[in-house]
Amino acid sequence: MTRINLTVDGVKYEEDVEPRLLLVHLLRDRLGKTGTPIGCDTGNCGACTVMLDGRSAKSCSVLAVQSDGCDVLTVEGLAEGERWHPMQRAFHEEHALQCGYCTPGMIMAAIDLLKDDPDPSDEAIRDGLEGNLCRCTGYCNIVRAVRRGAQSMSDQEAVSGR
Ligand code: FES
Ligand code: FES
Repeated sequence: MTRINLTVDGVKYEEDVEPRLLLVHLLRDRLGKTGTPIGCDTGNCGACTVMLDGRSAKSCSVLAVQSDGCDVLTVEGLAEGERWHPMQRAFHEEHALQCGYCTPGMIMAAIDLLKDDPDPSDEAIRDGLEGNLCRCTGYCNIVRAVRRGAQSMSDQEAVSGR
């Protein structure tokens, strides 16, 4: 066992973990963060995407020990109280989900892609989300949602003067 310290959705944790334990299993099975689903367990689908120190990472491709000292943000940590994150709202408003299985990972990957390109073209959105698969194939609405989320986030920043 190895002792690790990490912050998940703003809460500090100290956990003893097996060296082979995956971050996604730590999040779901130990910390109850079941909002992060497992789609493939092989790094292909992106369903398990979280933010690791501010950048998106597939949590089934990261060992829990690698997250020692890290700040992890899951989809469950995005809302501020009752107020959804603009990207969550955009997915809701654009009906960018069917079964919803890919949605947490899509939202996290979308927020990450806006860090490099706050006003992405549809092509850039499709490129940025290429590591996230939607088995329901609702990609058109997902692209629209990311565009809308990008607009809301930039409006929000303009209002807050950031
Ligand atoms: S469950 Fe992690 S990439 Fe599919
Ligand atoms: S909405 Fe079903 S997998 Fe994407």
